[in-house]
Amino acid sequence: MSKFISIKEAMKKGHGLVHIRGWCYRARGSNALRFLVIRDSTEIIQCVIEKAHVSEHIWEDAEKTDIEASVELSGEIAEDKRAPTGYEIKVKEFKLIGESIGWPIQKDQSAELLADMKHLWLRSRYMTSILKIRSTVTGAIDEYFRKEGFYEYHSPIFQATQAEGGSTLFSVNYFGKPVFLSQTWQLYAEPAIFALEKIYTIAPAFRAEKSKTSRHLTELWMCEMEVAWADFKEIQDYGEALIKHCVKRVLEHHQEELKILGRDIKMLEKVRDEPFIRMTYTEALEALKKKGIDIEWGKDLRTIEEDELSKIMGHFTIVTEYPKEVKAFYMKEVEGKPDVVNGCDFIAPECYGEIIGGSERESDMEKIKERLIAQGEDPEKYTFYLDTRKYGSVPHGGFGMGVERLVSWICHLESIKDAIPFPRTMLRVNP
Ligand code: 4AD
Ligand code: MG
Repeated sequence: MSKFISIKEAMKKGHGLVHIRGWCYRARGSNALRFLVIRDSTEIIQCVIEKAHVSEHIWEDAEKTDIEASVELSGEIAEDKRAPTGYEIKVKEFKLIGESIGWPIQKDQSAELLADMKHLWLRSRYMTSILKIRSTVTGAIDEYFRKEGFYEYHSPIFQATQAEGGSTLFSVNYFGKPVFLSQTWQLYAEPAIFALEKIYTIAPAFRAEKSKTSRHLTELWMCEMEVAWADFKEIQDYGEALIKHCVKRVLEHHQEELKILGRDIKMLEKVRDEPFIRMTYTEALEALKKKGIDIEWGKDLRTIEEDELSKIMGHFTIVTEYPKEVKAFYMKEVEGKPDVVNGCDFIAPECYGEIIGGSERESDMEKIKERLIAQGEDPEKYTFYLDTRKYGSVPHGGFGMGVERLVSWICHLESIKDAIPFPRTMLRVNP
């Protein structure tokens, strides 16, 4: 076992000799004293090196230690109210492990420069906090679904057909034939519910989004679920419970990170504690009309309208019964209302857009074929999918939740691009 402990553990110990290692977060000093704030994945701590009390070799190393150099050190830890995190280490042993010369990130740099430097910017307390919350969110997703008796299931990334519209497909040369990167697991998940009944995944999805917004990525991580025998309300209930569970875990584990991010947690608590609002698309249009926003029935809600709705409702709002024309071919027609489908979008509060999109699935094979044809698709290519309706079809449904959309809202980020370490958008594939 290594003698080194984390900075957080050292602070918990609070006194006596400790051995820590990490990176230099801040450095200042004089001819006789050097103050180094050291960080590791858990915390930051001020360390002080006095020339008079260490060997010449240690002093040389300490003087050479600049921002983001890596170090190992031992010393006496004690409470110190003036230090940035309330503790200080008086250094006895010190070793510079990896020098860092001319760290290129200074204070208050432009978003563009930070994006170019993302490989280094990941080390910031800002990005570290987001990445920790993201890890808790994906952990909470696993925890939630397994507790509910779901199996984790995996679907292919190379796919021969579209599922969410041809305009956002990425085509890849697959041994001379074009295939597409997965937009969703759905067409390959539905066949598996006949075996496993309740399944979920967290997997990459790809959308050739030409929009340069703060909420669109071309490569995203999507949590998806599919359930046999479920009705439309159950699908919505699962989505609501899932978001609440993720928020609950973040609130339990990340008060410190939320503070670093400057996130006001009142809205998170509300989402955790209060039932989501549920309304139909038609009711949403009425609510918007009262605010002077007139949308023709049948048009999809755009970003500005979703944001307006988000402001009016001030809470997660599940919008249902969308016009058939604006939704995917697999969504089930509402009984007695052939122009609307049992599809639901979960619109986040605080103008973060759609976080979950889901539906009850159409069970009538002929209707699915008609809608594929209406979209210009050849139903022959979907034989494997249509077979699910041919052999023992059951009522079922599911949804997809954008992991980055959820993280972006939880952390109240300006852009979804910081909800993932290396974002891919229309304008960026580097670094
Ligand atoms: O609403 P979407 O397109 O739904 C589907 O793909 C369904 N087949 C899912 C299912 O029922 N299994 O996408 C689901 C979610 C959206 O609500 C959004 O959170 C996220 O995926 N998403 C994106 N996130 C970031 N950038 C993009 N370009 C996104 N496109 C979708
Ligand atoms: Mg959607």
